[in-house]
Amino acid sequence: MAFPCSILLILLCSLLSSSLAKTPTHSKQVFLPIHKDPSTLQYITTIKQRTPLVPVRLTVDLGGRYLWTVCLSGYNSSSIRTAGCGTTQCRLAETSKYCFYCIPGPFGPGCTDAPTCWRYPLNTVTDKTVLGEVATDVIAISSTHGEGRAGNEVTVPGFIFVCASKKIIAGLAKGVTGMAGLGRTKISFPAQLASALNLKKRFGLCLSSSTTSKDGGVVIFGDGPYNLKGNSSVLLEYTPLILNKVLTGEERIIKSEISADYFIGVKSIKINENTVKINSTFLKITKGGYGGTKISTVHPYTLMESSIYNAVIKAFVTELKNVTRVPAVAPFKACFSSKNIGSTRAGPAVPSIDLVMRNGVSWRMLGANSMVKINGDVLCLAFVDGGEPPFINAIVIGGHQIEENLLSFDLEKSRLGFSSSLLAKETRCSNYKV
Ligand SMILES: *[C@@H]1O[C@H](CO)[C@@H](O)[C@H](O)[C@H]1NC(C)=O
Ligand SMILES: *[C@@H]1O[C@H](CO)[C@@H](O)[C@H](O)[C@H]1NC(C)=O
Ligand SMILES: *[C@@H]1O[C@H](CO)[C@@H](O)[C@H](O)[C@H]1NC(C)=O
Ligand SMILES: *[C@@H]1O[C@H](CO)[C@@H](O)[C@H](O)[C@H]1NC(C)=O
Repeated sequence: MAFPCSILLILLCSLLSSSLAKTPTHSKQVFLPIHKDPSTLQYITTIKQRTPLVPVRLTVDLGGRYLWTVCLSGYNSSSIRTAGCGTTQCRLAETSKYCFYCIPGPFGPGCTDAPTCWRYPLNTVTDKTVLGEVATDVIAISSTHGEGRAGNEVTVPGFIFVCASKKIIAGLAKGVTGMAGLGRTKISFPAQLASALNLKKRFGLCLSSSTTSKDGGVVIFGDGPYNLKGNSSVLLEYTPLILNKVLTGEERIIKSEISADYFIGVKSIKINENTVKINSTFLKITKGGYGGTKISTVHPYTLMESSIYNAVIKAFVTELKNVTRVPAVAPFKACFSSKNIGSTRAGPAVPSIDLVMRNGVSWRMLGANSMVKINGDVLCLAFVDGGEPPFINAIVIGGHQIEENLLSFDLEKSRLGFSSSLLAKETRCSNYKV
């Protein structure tokens, strides 16, 4: 009697599993494509903004506070509104002290009778800032779940941004008219998209090492997993995100604000599994907001405070002593002949570099992330001397070191998930699967 019953079960089971297979493998995500500009090494994304919608090219700034873009010249939109003093928009933009009557001139989108709020948007590539007016306008962004009026796009009306004057964009890649801030504020992309679209306060960042846009990377907003074709079961290690309560650098004009950068707790550095001798005092953030390790997309290569940098170079050269060292090519200080360096799936076969976190996990950098090819047979260690204190941070992990790594910023649990090299796991950032 058990026989027909189990046949029925098998049938039911296969029916069930085939219907399960059709349900989406992840919750709603919205995403922006990112490609690397070959001449500036900036990571560029394109959003659609305004009415009618037009593409706006922006440099991605992981620690940036908000979206800012050039407004006055050629900003045509029937839906732009400036933010009147005392409104929710001004409060979210933390501008209560910067409330002015409009000064007609090259600043904002135009004057109204009432005072509006202003900020100093920062070009974090050049560290230049100008006065800018807080405004709102509609943006459109690609979605995994088509529901907007433009097919697979969702629109977000009233997206808060800052209007800047044209001279601030000097130093950004060609065609770029602003920066897309992903930082720890209430009006960065992750924060505004999460509240407007009811997404989890989480985003995935995966930068491609390729400069062709069809092989570009992505920033994905919303809950994971962030599936990558080739290996959809990439495991992430987690380490707490650390909040730096002091704003340092050029934006410190507004003293009461806290840093919007993402810091992690690096405790030590290992090369070929051997701990590098460094003075670890500076790896902790000081009371004044200095030191610590942050991640940045506006620095093409990782910067290290001089004493840490020199110790890392020395240890790396020791571990690679069987390879011919060649004259350094600025800004790098350790370069090698690639003739006797083998190659692996994850780049040149060189000693591994581990950033060991305070919670015991390690972010491993293999050749593709630690080395940069200068020409046919010169490979350099892709780290740059950040200088001595008052160099602001101990380590700034730059673009080359995060390419082809999946990073997951979980703002609710305040933790960073990282994959280490995806290449070693037979996938890459251009494989994001909608
Ligand atoms: C904005 O509108 C003006 C007037 O309609 C037009 O001359 C100008 O070309 C437009 N600018 C852009 C960038 O579309
Ligand atoms: C480590 O660095 C800190 C801060 O720069 C300094 O005060 C301290 O003396 C250094 N320790 C050693 C052992 O060099
Ligand atoms: C030199 O050492 C590196 C790292 O240990 C190793 O990968 C490489 O194959 C060695 N090269 C030679 C020529 O022995
Ligand atoms: C896929 O990723 C997992 C977890 O990171 C890893 O263990 C596995 O080896 C990868 N698969 C391939 C084919 O590399």
